[in-house]
Amino acid sequence: MIHASRLFWGAAVGAGFLAMPVAAGQWPQGVSLDSFVSRERALALQGVLDNIGPNGAKVPGAAAGIVIASPSKVNPNYFFTWTRDAALTLKTLLDEFVLGNAALRPYIDDYVRSQAVLQTVTNPSGSLLPSGTGLGEPKFNADGSRFNGNWGRPQRDGPALRAIALIQYANWLVEHGESKKAKTTVWPVISNDLSYVGQYWNATGFDLWEEVSGSSLFTTQNQYRSLVEGAVLAKRLGVPCTGCGQSPNVVCFLQTYWNGKFFTGNINTNTVRGGVDANTVLGPISIFDVDAPCESPTLQPCHSRVLANFKVFVDTFRNSTLYPINAGIRSTRGIALGRYPEDVYFDGNPWYLITLGAAEFLYGAAAQWTRQGAISVDTDSLAFFRDLHPSARAGDTYRRGKKTDPFPAIVAAATAYADSFVAVAQAYTPANGALAEQFLKTPPGTPLSAAALTWSYASFLSMAARRAGRNPRGWTSAAAQKTPRPSSCAASSAVGTYTPATGAGAPNTTAPCLALVLFVVNATTYYGENIYLVGNSSDLGAWDLDNAQPMVSSNYTAERPEWFAQMSLAAGQTVSYAYVRQQDCGRPPIWETANRTLTAPACAGTGAPLPTLETDDAWTGPVGQPGGC
Ligand code: NOJ
Ligand code: NOJ
Repeated sequence: MIHASRLFWGAAVGAGFLAMPVAAGQWPQGVSLDSFVSRERALALQGVLDNIGPNGAKVPGAAAGIVIASPSKVNPNYFFTWTRDAALTLKTLLDEFVLGNAALRPYIDDYVRSQAVLQTVTNPSGSLLPSGTGLGEPKFNADGSRFNGNWGRPQRDGPALRAIALIQYANWLVEHGESKKAKTTVWPVISNDLSYVGQYWNATGFDLWEEVSGSSLFTTQNQYRSLVEGAVLAKRLGVPCTGCGQSPNVVCFLQTYWNGKFFTGNINTNTVRGGVDANTVLGPISIFDVDAPCESPTLQPCHSRVLANFKVFVDTFRNSTLYPINAGIRSTRGIALGRYPEDVYFDGNPWYLITLGAAEFLYGAAAQWTRQGAISVDTDSLAFFRDLHPSARAGDTYRRGKKTDPFPAIVAAATAYADSFVAVAQAYTPANGALAEQFLKTPPGTPLSAAALTWSYASFLSMAARRAGRNPRGWTSAAAQKTPRPSSCAASSAVGTYTPATGAGAPNTTAPCLALVLFVVNATTYYGENIYLVGNSSDLGAWDLDNAQPMVSSNYTAERPEWFAQMSLAAGQTVSYAYVRQQDCGRPPIWETANRTLTAPACAGTGAPLPTLETDDAWTGPVGQPGGC
């Protein structure tokens, strides 16, 4: 079903064949890389817009400005909005908008409004008021309501990425006579996110792959950028930025991911992974500033350690036992790349957005060298440079304009290397241009997992922009970098200020007064059967089983078959609820035969410990039988 017809890109044949055949070119698309990129660019832009509500052709039901991760509703169900995917997508749309695509403005305004509202949606990570915890929620339902299922939460990259996207818009507004809108509509949304970053950058959370709780380079790097850019914008607008003062400690912390050979993707974790992770390549491209010096502690693509890390990361996937699809490709050519070598999600395959991200990375580094007119090689980056220029030595500096200097050859080699990653993506892109999340690690590299992934399309757009030499506005300018990096990193935090962004359309919510309810039910279940809690309020899933609260069986014994779920409900609220059995083998759920009612304890007032209530329920209704599948 994901297979699109494997036809040729008929029209463009004859434009000159530049693309390298990849892994025997299972899907020969007889067009040059240039034609592929220009055709796929248009398809990718349409692919993004098709996944944004309210009018996106592929996402009926999505609210205005809500960016759906993928129209796929089963295996996997990505019919949700992730703060990360949405922000990275909008960042790319903003690049296109700033560079002249005026038609994108309604999408951007819808996004601003949708995010202002989402910020106020109380969710399993918390709420906006009083302390911003709800901003760390990774995803929401397509209609903008809270998602109650189990998930790796909080994820702290979301607020930073959203702030970065919105800062770009606010700057554009300021420069186009709309400072008032920047200040009263967009800034309040940004301000909440920067408060969150300043308050929680040093707290652990889940990584961008939603699997590892700890600190993640991608997250830290984007957090730093958001605070630096946020401070500059705040000054421009004449408003205070709570949290921005944290940036020196954040950039200090950022350096600690280096392990002497590469950047460990996740630290402060207890995983047993080796640490090689695409987040360390996606991070540098998301904070890319063509004007930044390579030594910048922001860790730009051209930074020597970042280049060293790039080589370690890419070479990890040259192992043809891991990725048979990469067998036989020369060590200086692009290959298919995945998230990290231990990945088992959908059996751990290459991802389009990472393979394209590698190309974007190299175009970015080449643009930085060109901007600076120089390339310096040191012991860290030597192995990387040897692949482009075999006689490179540590200590060499190459310069543009010097006769016989290898500078232009190295820039050209890096660009060709970048192109060869795009050619890999081309080889596994079906003729209709659809970009799924992954493609099979064995020939024929069939697309798989979520179809029409918004982030895959967005990654194509940003790669194509870099390839065409179109670079976003810089952010690392000297003014912003004045604050010296502390010599020892402090684990600091600034208490944020959080306010619903009513100017952008957020409801004027107040801090919820909460009560804790520990739902406890005795329900004898068979191995493979689970109990869910569902009820009439949004925190209990509004009677929608797909949004019910999963219960925990860790106290379950034969004597006391206990399932529990701890929920914070609005104090004093009366709710109807019931327990539901989720059977194995895909058989229908079994509901209790009657609904229950409870009233959460009354509000205890600020500062007081949360009042609590514990239920002592016993399953009422039919029991399940193992399906024996
Ligand atoms: C596990 C995957 O590895 C993660 O990246 C994904 O987001 C979740 N499952 C949900 O699909
Ligand atoms: C799984 C990816 O690991 C995660 O980064 C992404 O946010 C979701 N899918 C949605 O695309």
